Parts: sequence; structure tokens; C-alpha cells
Amino acid sequence: MPKGKVLITGGAGYIGAHTAVALFEAGYEPLVLDNFSNTLPSAIDAIRQLTFDGLKVYETDCCDYQALEEVYLNEKPVGVIHFAAFKAVGESVRLPLKYYKNNLMSLANVLELSVKHSIKNLVFSSSCTVYGQPEHLPVHEGSPILPAESPYGNTKQIGEEMVRDAVQSGAPLAAISLRYFNPVGAHPSSKLGELPLGTPNNLVPFITQTVAGWRDQLTVFGDDYPTPDGTCIRDYIHVCDLAEAHVAAIKTLEKAEDSYSGVDYINIGTGRGHSVLEVIHAFEDTTGHKLNYQIGPRRPGDVTAVFADTTKSKKALGWSPKYSMEEALVHAWNWQKTLKK
Ligand code: WQD
Repeated sequence: MPKGKVLITGGAGYIGAHTAVALFEAGYEPLVLDNFSNTLPSAIDAIRQLTFDGLKVYETDCCDYQALEEVYLNEKPVGVIHFAAFKAVGESVRLPLKYYKNNLMSLANVLELSVKHSIKNLVFSSSCTVYGQPEHLPVHEGSPILPAESPYGNTKQIGEEMVRDAVQSGAPLAAISLRYFNPVGAHPSSKLGELPLGTPNNLVPFITQTVAGWRDQLTVFGDDYPTPDGTCIRDYIHVCDLAEAHVAAIKTLEKAEDSYSGVDYINIGTGRGHSVLEVIHAFEDTTGHKLNYQIGPRRPGDVTAVFADTTKSKKALGWSPKYSMEEALVHAWNWQKTLKK
């Protein structure tokens, strides 16, 4: 007996696609909705191979209220996971209004339609960027929210507030904002992974593309930070573990159906911090490939170190990550090897 339909906005993107697979494996029917502005239709073939041929896909923009309402009317899902958003930090500094318009309007539509059509359970993609550079590590959910470093980060902060206010208005809505740390890796089958269009901003795709010969050299952004080896520290979480956290969030909201009507914030990380040089050396050791890299200047906006306190994710969701960073790097490399330039 299927557990019900879950609408995944941005379902053809990196995290959304892995979440579609995880939901299917957990017995739900994933409904993929995407406007394909930053992902390739080939992701759908891969999701279908890992789920079922009949997977429903809506080519819809969440900013188009009427088109989105059609999907709500057709499907009556048990929950919505809202990933659809622009996510390039640097671009958001150059084109802030593009980010505010798209990310906030799409969320407003999702919230309004969820209330209108009595779809109570909502999971919102938030980010550890809401913590800025925390004074104390690891960061927990009650740590101060600092002014955002970029318009992108600000859309996540405002997004959390929009979700909170909608829930607290008394609407029949319950929501969990998941604050992701650094998602990395790929599906172990190598059918799904991260495919940034153009030059990658993020560390792991830049490493795999450099080793594959797509890029000449990786620049390590600064080795003069106050950390043991001078490079920045992050909490790298396998994308499949992150996908499972969404399944756990939907189950938690469903279970609490009658007793719970609220809003919650949960860190999704491993609880371990790794420096940039540790990631590079782990990649070299596990794959046997040398990476051509140089040390360069700091990247503006980077925080020195951030990693998650995972107490709440374990307790509230009953979730913990299964994969190590090394396994994530091997999966990212196996995925890279399937790609053609
Ligand atoms: C990781 C580390 C870089 C590239 C990103 C998003 C952010 C958030 C989490 C979701 C940093 C260093 C990188 C390179 C390098 N999540 N680096 N050379 O910036 O921690 O955060 O994921 O919303 O919004 O931006 O991730 O992968 O870019 O960087 O030295 O070529 O690797 O300085 O220390 P970041 P990243």
C-alpha cells in the first residue's frame, strides 16, 4: 500500500532527485516538479531508472501560481518538499532581485496553495548559511542567526521567517526547515549526481572536474585561517543521507498529524568538520588520483569554520548519516567518470 504522494519542487535538481529516489524506496510516490532552468532533462531518466517508469514529472515554474495550483488540484499530495530556488551565492550578489523574486515568490505560492488545499506537511530547504560565522562550534539550532552574507543567504533567512509566520498564523500547516551543511557525493549507482552548469563554485565538483582534466587546477581559497592547517572547515554530508533526512522529516510531520502543528528547524550535517586540505588528501588517498592544486587568496564571504550539532536531528527525526566523507568522495568520483564534457 503506497504511503501517499509527495510533491518535490525542484525535484530534478541535485538534492531533489536523490530525495525522489529515497522517498520511492520508503514507499511514497514522488511527484517531480521542476522548471528545468538549472538542470538537464536527463536527470529524469536517471530518477525513472532508480524508481519506476511511471514517475510523474511536471514541467512547472513555482512562480506561476495557476500552473502550480493545477498540480495541487490534480494530485492532493500528503506533503510538499520545497527545493526549487536559485542557489549561486556569487550570482545573487550581482543579481539580487532575480533571487528575491524567484526564491520568495515561489515559496509564497507554495505556502498559499498548501494552506488553500489543506496540504499540511511542508519541508523547506534551508541552509547552515543562516548561522554566518558562529562564535561557538558546533552550531545548534538555537545559535544566533547572523545577518546574511549574500542575497541568496538572505532568501533562506526570509524563507524560514515566511514559513514560521504562515504556520503561526493559525493556518493548518506544519513545517520543518532543514538547515543543510555541505551536500556532497552522488548516488552509489552513479546514475545521479551533481552536474553544475558552467564552472563549479563548490569544492567537490571542482576537485572531480580537475582530476578528470576538465579544469587545469584547483585553487585552495586561503591557508591562513585560524584552523589547524590554515584552511576552512566545513561539515560535508553525503547527498543520499541528506535525501533520507527529508524522508524522515515527512514521516515525522505525518506521524504528528493530529498532535503537532508547528514549525521546527533542524541541522542536517554529520557533526564532523573537515578542512579543505583534509578533503583533498582524502580524495587522493581513496581514489589514488593526484590533484593539481595551488594555494590562493581567501574567497570573500567564506566563514572560517562551521559544523553541526546533530543532537536534534537524531532526536527529532531519528535520523543519522550512514556515509563517511571518504565514501561520498568515491561516489562523487565514480559519478564524474560517467560524464562527458
Ligand atoms: C567549501 C570550502 C571554500 C572551491 C556552500 C553553499 C552554501 C551552503 C553550503 C546551502 C570553502 C573551499 C571551494 C574551490 C576552495 N549550502 N573551496 N576552492 O561555500 O561552504 O557553502 O554549501 O545552501 O550556501 O555556498 O561550499 O563547496 O563552495 O566551499 O578552496 O575552488 O572549499 O573556500 O572553504 P560553501 P563550497
